[in-house]
Amino acid sequence: MKPWQSSIWYGGDYNPEQWPKSVWNEDIALMQEAGVNTVSLGIFSWANLEPSEGVYTFDWLDEIIEKLHAAGISIDLANATASPPAWLGQKYPDSRFTDQFGVVRSHGGRQNFCASSEHYRRAAQALTEQIASRYGKHPAIAMWHVHNEYACHNARDYSETSAKAFRTWLIQKYNNSLSDLNRAWGTDFWSQRYHQWSEINTPKITPDGTSPNPTMQLDFARFSSDALLECFIAERDIIHRHSPGVPVTTNFMTIRGFNKLDYWKWAQAVDVVSTDHYLMSSDVQSHIELAMQADTTRGLSAGKPWLLMEHSTSAVNWQPRNRAKQPRELIRNSIQHFARGADGIMFFQWRASYAGSEKFHSALVPHAGRESKVWREVVELGNKLSVLSELTGSTVENKIGIIWDYESWWALDQPNLPSSDLRYLEQTLAIYKSLWSMNYGVDFIPKPQTADEIARFNLVIAPMTYLMSKSTSNAISEYVKSGGNLLSTYFTAISDLNDHIYLGGYSGPLKELLGISIEEFVPLMQDQTTLLSNGFEAHIWSERAKSTTAEVIARYKDANLDDSVALAKNNFGNGIAWYQGTSLSAKDQSDYLVKILRASHVSPIIEAPEGVEVVRRKNNESSWLIAINHTQSNIKIPATGTELFSGQSITGSIKIPAGEVVVIRENK
Ligand code: GLA
Repeated sequence: MKPWQSSIWYGGDYNPEQWPKSVWNEDIALMQEAGVNTVSLGIFSWANLEPSEGVYTFDWLDEIIEKLHAAGISIDLANATASPPAWLGQKYPDSRFTDQFGVVRSHGGRQNFCASSEHYRRAAQALTEQIASRYGKHPAIAMWHVHNEYACHNARDYSETSAKAFRTWLIQKYNNSLSDLNRAWGTDFWSQRYHQWSEINTPKITPDGTSPNPTMQLDFARFSSDALLECFIAERDIIHRHSPGVPVTTNFMTIRGFNKLDYWKWAQAVDVVSTDHYLMSSDVQSHIELAMQADTTRGLSAGKPWLLMEHSTSAVNWQPRNRAKQPRELIRNSIQHFARGADGIMFFQWRASYAGSEKFHSALVPHAGRESKVWREVVELGNKLSVLSELTGSTVENKIGIIWDYESWWALDQPNLPSSDLRYLEQTLAIYKSLWSMNYGVDFIPKPQTADEIARFNLVIAPMTYLMSKSTSNAISEYVKSGGNLLSTYFTAISDLNDHIYLGGYSGPLKELLGISIEEFVPLMQDQTTLLSNGFEAHIWSERAKSTTAEVIARYKDANLDDSVALAKNNFGNGIAWYQGTSLSAKDQSDYLVKILRASHVSPIIEAPEGVEVVRRKNNESSWLIAINHTQSNIKIPATGTELFSGQSITGSIKIPAGEVVVIRENK
């Protein structure tokens, strides 16, 4: 068997219950042909395993586990709690999911449950107990897969059951002090003051044109993330008891679309960080967003190798138009994740379904079978990953840290902000894209509490880090004072963790560090731009700001803004704090960053032409350069060592054919 990290994991979600047993032997033969060494099993099997409450049928699962085991294929076994069976909701209506309109959702999709429902929790834990005790010591089980993509479909439940649990959570958070809660939520606004805990409900839909109290929404987001985390922890603990030493994971969705969990908190609770990732068809640079997802996942894993639990071999089925991957794109995407620290490349799913909502989703075995582009690339990828097993356990480390903050993102997802163009992911991605294009590596980090946590970086970037505590601003200031460099964008450190605005000029806690004073926001209208004095163009945002101690790099050329500062740098102790008061085009963003990177003494991983992605993985003995050519031309990059796929030794440079990937073990 292949314990986690003895080789690069390769495989995907395996749903044998969707197929007659006659297909199972062929599945295993094909898995062996493709070099699949691990499958995730039983994720959506609850209704098959427990046809009625307390009645379990494990025969089919026993049988397939033995078959996989005999074939030497490891299993990431699910505890099957992700999609409750029809009987649960029918018998215990409070176990179902309630939306913000108060509508109780019907059975038929998946993940239809309320995280705070005792009935759901009890049933999920009982099932976990059965599965974990039955298979906990089976030698084929290499990892446990609790649930599936928590919060994908039921992130925030607005039922009475949740309201009760929310009140309990609030009583604990505010130490039983309703006046502390009233203060934190600013309830003197619009007559929202609470006089009894029982008056507090979930933030359901409010009268037209209004929205629930912003701090209440923020607390509800925190509570909802915690409620699901409690479900995970309870199930994880049962598994740990029955299956000591076998790691437990649950697959995250670290950036795209589902920002409903505070994964920094969740990452502490899993034994191995794993994530899923799907390309958005409408994004022509989706391979860059992929890289950012991989980097955020490595950040959550604190730099340790992580597992790509799902991606797709070609098209998905849930976007308006589902783009099929181009030839070689599957290999490039997989190697991108691998390069950025994934020690496992898994897919949804093994065999494409012929029925059900996901029947048009790609898989390792497509509807067309073996005579297909997808299958040929699947087999090739299996070969490639087996060649790469010497990199197992190696890591990636960079000199640039980007602060990544789910709570700021939640707050910026709320209405009633100065502009609806204040988009957390887009702004972070814009900066990331510039760095990616120039092959600068970055690590994603949580908001620091001490300067020590960020001391290893030459440069820390805080993109739109809207909610910031004083302990974080102090940590950052301390870090710069002792020689670090900071780039802060607009709309950073505007509010504290209760979403109360810092008074006396915006970005208050960073005012001294940045050496500027911001008195008014001047958001730009749709498609409006403003020229800056250095020739750059401002998009989305401008502000009325002046320098107190900062050296001004560019001012807004807008007569109404009285020479306000747009870009600035402030020497602070031994370091420099840079400010970016607006959103820049890709080219301007890169130009500004180059200036900052040079001053921060950070170099790119290697100098390579744009469109070639280069990442370095290392362990104590070796280092490997992984390069992915996303362009349609052959491109040369500097390298010396041995190229692992061809076995060729390389001196000085290597040519990467259009669309291809190379991995070079570098000479010392
Ligand atoms: C998610 C789920 C899978 C499947 C895929 C389809 O990642 O975890 O079960 O639905 O989406 O893209």
